[in-house]
Amino acid sequence: MTKITFNKKKKMFHLQNEYISYIFEVLPNGYLAQSYFGEVIDVSNDENFVIQQNRPMTTYVEDKLSLQNQPLEYPNFGTTDYRRSAFDFELEDGSRITDFVYKKHIVLDQKEALQGVPNTRESEGVKQLNVYLEDELLNTILILKYTIYPGLSSIVRSVEVQNNGNQVIKLNKLLSLSIGLTDQYSKWIQLSGDWARERHVIERSLSYGTTSIESITGSSSAYHNPYVLLTTEHTTEDYGDTVSVSLMYSGNHVISSEINAIGINRIQAGINPTGFSWKLEGGASFQSPEAILTYSNKGKNGNSIQLHRFIKNHIVNPKWNETRPLLINNWEATYFDFDSKVLVEIATEASSLGFDLFVLDDGWFGKRNSDSVGLGDWVVNEEKIQGGLEKLVKSINEVGMDFGIWIEPEMVNLESELYKLHPDWVVGHPRRRMSLGRNQLVLDFSNADVVDYIFDAFTSIFDSINLKYIKWDMNRSITEPFSVSLTSQNQGEFYHRYILGVYDLYERITTRYPDVMIEGCASGGNRFDLGILYYSPQIWTSDNTDGLERVKIQYGTSFAYPLSTMSSHISAVPNHQIGRSTPLRFRSDVATFGTYGYELDPRGLSEKEKSFIISENEVYKKRQHIILKGDFYRVANPFETDEASWISVLPDKCSALAGFYILTEKPNRGPIRVVFKGLSKDKTYTVSSTVVNGTYSGAYLMNLGILFEPSFNGQVIVRDSVGDFQSYLFDIKERRD
Ligand code: GLA
Repeated sequence: MTKITFNKKKKMFHLQNEYISYIFEVLPNGYLAQSYFGEVIDVSNDENFVIQQNRPMTTYVEDKLSLQNQPLEYPNFGTTDYRRSAFDFELEDGSRITDFVYKKHIVLDQKEALQGVPNTRESEGVKQLNVYLEDELLNTILILKYTIYPGLSSIVRSVEVQNNGNQVIKLNKLLSLSIGLTDQYSKWIQLSGDWARERHVIERSLSYGTTSIESITGSSSAYHNPYVLLTTEHTTEDYGDTVSVSLMYSGNHVISSEINAIGINRIQAGINPTGFSWKLEGGASFQSPEAILTYSNKGKNGNSIQLHRFIKNHIVNPKWNETRPLLINNWEATYFDFDSKVLVEIATEASSLGFDLFVLDDGWFGKRNSDSVGLGDWVVNEEKIQGGLEKLVKSINEVGMDFGIWIEPEMVNLESELYKLHPDWVVGHPRRRMSLGRNQLVLDFSNADVVDYIFDAFTSIFDSINLKYIKWDMNRSITEPFSVSLTSQNQGEFYHRYILGVYDLYERITTRYPDVMIEGCASGGNRFDLGILYYSPQIWTSDNTDGLERVKIQYGTSFAYPLSTMSSHISAVPNHQIGRSTPLRFRSDVATFGTYGYELDPRGLSEKEKSFIISENEVYKKRQHIILKGDFYRVANPFETDEASWISVLPDKCSALAGFYILTEKPNRGPIRVVFKGLSKDKTYTVSSTVVNGTYSGAYLMNLGILFEPSFNGQVIVRDSVGDFQSYLFDIKERRD
């Protein structure tokens, strides 16, 4: 049950549902101060929440109330608060002084749809609060938007500016949220990395001063995912207070913490102000992307579970919640070297192994025989696809497989017809050197003509084939941010306009082909964020498909994203990204905890491998609902030990699937105890696995766990699986008799 109340006497807002309270108030001087975000509380008395007292050295206006130490809700620049402001507006007289104060508010019984940016979905019982702040001199309004959903511990925030005056306002910064927490949140967890090692878990201690993660690559980036988890000194995986911040945005971002001298921790998130400025004419408005704040007192894992539920219910299109295709992709099987015959052979073999969908990856268009040519030329290459795509898709359908295709809409090679025709359609300055990435330039998606052209190019192909899936790739970062289609006054808008162009194309493609599932990709996980997940229910988690690396990548990714979003494939060994060989069983047991697929040539498989894949595919289909709908609990951390374990449990706690992995074996080790989480202690479960089969109470499984002997003690080999890269899956079902 959601409720938004306003205590007129105290001028205090209280947003609440079954789990959380979010409280802030209007200070006597009209500014807003955050009072509380945490477990649901009752506030019926007249207690004071915010700091009323001034201190020596503070500055103030006539009301004698300094802003310096307040946990401000959306702070102005240039007044008695000396921390980072939430926005920064440059006015025509050169000043940047603003004075936005409370004017009015409204409460809505629905989620307001935001213009341009993807936004969290409407649902029954949702409530939205819009607080209007006005700067009278500027005749401009800031609308702070807060949404609360029933049954979830998240608050969604965003901001809209409406310029009702005559002067042009230059927005140099407009963050999605700013919130004042206390310094009890002294630990900060970020998901950082690079290509092939995305979203590793990095923990930092916060102290006085600022800490931040940022992206300036034009995408959300593999370097720093737009997500941060704040915990206290004492928070563990399962106990203690946590607040996470996720930004629903795929472009340049910033998330920061600033702790001041009296221990107020100002957390902010939004579009990265570096390289950003937006010219807001009189009469125009600007909407920020949304940011999601999630609270849990059940530790880091508790926060992840709340956030996962939120993403599954209100970000990903619910039509993809039930099932996902079991796919095979030809990239690592053929790279650019294929023709129709080869593709149909792969699809035929894959069909006999139980796959649903064949994905034709890069290389099917233009003169695309290497990564230095052809991007932008979205015309089928008939030398490779003899007789055209329609014919190929028919043949693939005839062998019992659905068809999916790879595209990279935002890019162009120098060596392409498109670049010859439209050299002015690329990102960069015409009189300066332009940097290449993977031999390609970025198309200027801030220019609507470019987006229109690409949309038409794709629809003229997709309209005539039986298409079920698109892999939407993006393989380089943006450099030299300049658009010839923008005026000198508007160049600061480029990065944001680019990403709005990307969202526009996503919107048009998903509207035209509502039954085609899109998988996001950006050299693997270089654009794994909530903006993309609004359109693509799953994202290629990493180009790195090595089993061991994937354990870490999937473990890290699970902090911020549910298993249903993580596209996970099994590829050949030695692995193409790192050269390591791991057993097929291990690779499959890791990929099972994601949306499962293969990325290898099935024609060269041995009979033993084929029968393994057939049975794994059958089993995955039976388990898939636990992966898509379950709550995910991390148990053993591969960043800290030589083991990893995790479990996905359906919310009714009747079925679960657990994975335990020995990454590197130890000599003469003791017995292994695999403990589970998330089950009901009062239920009785049957556990089936390759090591134990039996009946246990939930309490037993979650406390004592399953004990099994190490597979090799130096003398006796107990099981087939020995040495490094051992894996064991446990199917857990409630026994009802
Ligand atoms: C990127 C993707 C890969 C593959 C190639 C094709 O690297 O991440 O999965 O599609 O592009 O060029």
